[in-house]
Amino acid sequence: PQRSLVLVKPDGVRRGLSGEILRRIEGKGYTLAAVELRSATPEILAAHYAEHEGKPFYGPLVEFMLSGPVLAVVIEGERCIEGFRSLAGATDPTVAAPGTIRGDLGRDWGLAVQQNLVHGSDSEESAAREIGIWFPELSA
Ligand code: GTP
Ligand code: MG
Repeated sequence: PQRSLVLVKPDGVRRGLSGEILRRIEGKGYTLAAVELRSATPEILAAHYAEHEGKPFYGPLVEFMLSGPVLAVVIEGERCIEGFRSLAGATDPTVAAPGTIRGDLGRDWGLAVQQNLVHGSDSEESAAREIGIWFPELSA
């Protein structure tokens, strides 16, 4: 089965939503292959967000991701990459559909970066790359 790298971002951990987010993942039927509360580092984030370097929200995004611990999770299940993106909802929490993590629990805080609770890999290639960054021991 497929694997995906999910992060509960610092806003989600700070607001005590880690359990709720894991509940939705497990409720959907995906398996947790790894779960670890940890602090990101500038090195990890530079690799993780390489595709966004140079965009106007890149600096604020990295700063936000360093503002507190994240819950790093590897989920497993048939089509879980697409499935988790569907559970998460649109990037902008204001317009994310009700029923999704971002739609139900997120809102626009008027800040320089969208604090949208979660990250999920967007392709098999990204998933392999991101699992290698966050859990190198899993990708041997
Ligand atoms: P991730 O699952 O976190 O990767 O979200 P995504 O795939 O829905 O968004 P994307 O990869 O395009 O951007 C990564 C993160 O940068 C987003 O989750 C937001 O936190 C932030 N971001 C992306 N686009 C914008 C934007 O246009 N404005 C602002 N303020 N933040 C953005
Ligand atoms: Mg993305």
